[in-house]
Amino acid sequence: FHRAMSTLPKVYVTRKVPPDGVDILRKSGQVQIEMWDSDEPVPRLELLKKVKGCDGILCVLTEKIDIQLLEAAGPNLKVVSTMSVGFDHLSLDELKKRGIRVGYTPDVLTDCVAELTVALLLATSRRLTEATHEAKTGGWGTWRTLWLCGHELANSTVGILGLGRIGVAIAERLKPFKVKKFIYTDVAQRVELANMIEAEYVSFDELAEQSDFLAVCCALTPETHGICNWNLFSKMKRNAIFINTSRGGVVNQEDLYKALSTDLIAGAGLDVTTPEPLPTNHPLFSLKNCVILPHIASASYTTRNTMSALAANNLLAGLRGEPMPKELKL
Ligand code: DGY
Repeated sequence: FHRAMSTLPKVYVTRKVPPDGVDILRKSGQVQIEMWDSDEPVPRLELLKKVKGCDGILCVLTEKIDIQLLEAAGPNLKVVSTMSVGFDHLSLDELKKRGIRVGYTPDVLTDCVAELTVALLLATSRRLTEATHEAKTGGWGTWRTLWLCGHELANSTVGILGLGRIGVAIAERLKPFKVKKFIYTDVAQRVELANMIEAEYVSFDELAEQSDFLAVCCALTPETHGICNWNLFSKMKRNAIFINTSRGGVVNQEDLYKALSTDLIAGAGLDVTTPEPLPTNHPLFSLKNCVILPHIASASYTTRNTMSALAANNLLAGLRGEPMPKELKL
């Protein structure tokens, strides 16, 4: 028994992941599992120690899978499976160079993320956090004609920066709010996706100038890093609402602060920031027109379990040398 155990591929799971994924790994009988059984990220030094000699790693987005880690893991490593759709924490070039395959979790979180994006958009545009605060703390005097007024979706133009599965899902949910027009920009036209929501392809500047609501739905890459900066905000409408549920790194937060604090744009809803967690004394927290959530877009029990299961199945398939259910093409 011991001999059989010790010849099974070794995998390191960098976090206490939801039970569905753990069950799949355990029941497979295919791997020896070691897991950092905590809700807190594994300390880097511990991680570097634990991955040594591993065949597979199942990680979450707090673990940088970079050259240092790959070197620490050594030549046995065949598969990295991340329980996320985002992959900006993975050094893809280094993985590719070493022939390491990568699994990720697209699709299964699209509905959940789109739902939260709509919630965040409405919370921001209709000033819900400000309103509940006022109601609770005595700011609620008599009914007043322009008090806590916001901006409505009906008749609006919604812009999507980076049109993919999630952008489409957001648009599908917003359409019943009587949005007048969807526009998007991306590095190239996404004809098929755009047709699903009748979205018009525009330039980056047109997106900035025309959007009443601007939802950022792109991946964080060297090309999109800091793309939402003064150049964007300064072209936006004064009534515009900026929503980001992708990655904090796409936003220049100093520029966003300047735009919000001078009422250059009406509001921002952020589920992602740099860094995470955002320090509680960060200037953005001082703004009434900025709604900040702690990276919860995919946080439903169902979705997180499904992500965990998919990450486990990706890992197992990769270790068997089979096509993964969702493999990132490197
Ligand atoms: C992802 O999957 O990339 C999200 O940010 C967390 O679900």
